[in-house]
Amino acid sequence: MKNLVFATSNPNKIKEANDLLPTALEVKGLKDIGCTEEVPETSPTIQGNALQKARYVFENYKVNCFSEDTGLEIDALDGEPGVYTARYAGEARDKEANMAKAIANLEGKSDRGAQFRTVIALIIDGKEYTFEGIARGTIAHQKQGTEGFGYDPIFIPAGYKTSFAQMTQAEKNEISHRGQAVRKLVAFLDTL
Ligand code: IMP
Repeated sequence: MKNLVFATSNPNKIKEANDLLPTALEVKGLKDIGCTEEVPETSPTIQGNALQKARYVFENYKVNCFSEDTGLEIDALDGEPGVYTARYAGEARDKEANMAKAIANLEGKSDRGAQFRTVIALIIDGKEYTFEGIARGTIAHQKQGTEGFGYDPIFIPAGYKTSFAQMTQAEKNEISHRGQAVRKLVAFLDTL
């Protein structure tokens, strides 16, 4: 199998995945297959959203594809924002407002533990597979660093003193939720 569509329009995610996937595999984004509409993402779970996006692309564009959905789960907030990570502070999906809200909601709490969870859903010839990656860490008191995207400046992975936004892409990929899930995907694709 040489062609695989990554059902995302987020260029950051395509870049991260391309760094990890074998060069023999040509990964296309949604724009490359003419999909410019918003892919529905209405499930109450991260796994459900990943499957929903992959099924939408497989059914409407008849291509083997994978999609991923990621959520930030903060321990002291009962797993919030979880499936609402992108729009935590409102429909504008503003990363600065999202990070500020996470920090504000943790004010006065001693437990700052959190995790990023990624689920990748793959559909090959109609068969569905899922792969999960989890990165444990803590929520910083303030933003640190300028690399990466989303909540990276406030997420300090377990065992590190720096945030994801203070790491190179390669360093982040080695330990990140998405890196782990993509490596599981790659290992599976190797068996086909
Ligand atoms: P989605 O999976 O594209 O719906 O992303 C959900 C939310 O998580 C968005 O606000 C993203 O910016 C954020 N997000 C996803 N992956 C990462 C990451 O690796 N680091 C920081 N934030 C992320």
